[in-house]
Amino acid sequence: MQFDDVIMGRKSTRGYLDKPVPRELIEEVLKLAMRAPSSMNTQPWHFHVITGEPLDRIRAGNTERNLAGVPHSREFRTGRPFEGVHRERQVGVAKQLFAAQGIARDDKDARLDWVMRGFRQFDAPVCVIITYDKELADSDDTAFDCGAVTTMLVNAAWSRGLGCVINSQGIMQSPVVREHAGIPDDQVIMKAVALGWPDDTFPANAVVSERKDVGEAARFVGFD
Ligand SMILES: Cc1cc2nc3c(=O)[nH]c(=O)nc-3n(C[C@H](O)[C@H](O)[C@H](O)COP(=O)(O)O)c2cc1C
Repeated sequence: MQFDDVIMGRKSTRGYLDKPVPRELIEEVLKLAMRAPSSMNTQPWHFHVITGEPLDRIRAGNTERNLAGVPHSREFRTGRPFEGVHRERQVGVAKQLFAAQGIARDDKDARLDWVMRGFRQFDAPVCVIITYDKELADSDDTAFDCGAVTTMLVNAAWSRGLGCVINSQGIMQSPVVREHAGIPDDQVIMKAVALGWPDDTFPANAVVSERKDVGEAARFVGFD
């Protein structure tokens, strides 16, 4: 695939085929992803690649705790609820996804089903938990570096025909992930990435999310 095709074609994948992903292919994707730049080349990231029974235990634990209303236990700062334009964008993509899935605004059961799907890692065959070295937790560069490598990961996966969705839902109950994935104490859990072969019949997979224009995001100084 050409670079532009990968970048413009990638979309978050929230419906997967029940088909395993070879370990060698995931290693190839991670090798590409790890060409990401990082602050002083510190490469603070780790990948816990989970499938099969341990992943099923994480899905079950996440489901149980979220249904029971256990408050989230993310291991990093999460900020305040979105407001203004950020809230509008959040609602915008949710509306696109619900419309694609035929989920009505007042259909509480269908909305709950959708949320629980996220906590099950969208029933993907693989989940990659991104963690970073705890001793670098005080630097915001660390989160920046994890974002860089994760973006590379989802694009590298897409270039090989694999879909992904970066998600916080999978790590909202971090003790569940820590236990079943065996995450060492000297690492901080940052994010989950569901990964697998996209199910092209799953309506939400066709959603193309919107972007603000370059003119809105960028200022050019000294060009005139
Ligand atoms: C840090 C981060 C957290 C995210 N968390 C979730 C999540 O919990 N559930 C979900 O369905 N998508 C999640 N997403 C996916 C975003 O909704 C998606 O990337 C965004 O709407 C743009 O759509 P696209 O990936 O299809 O281009 C997350 C993405 C990022 C980068």
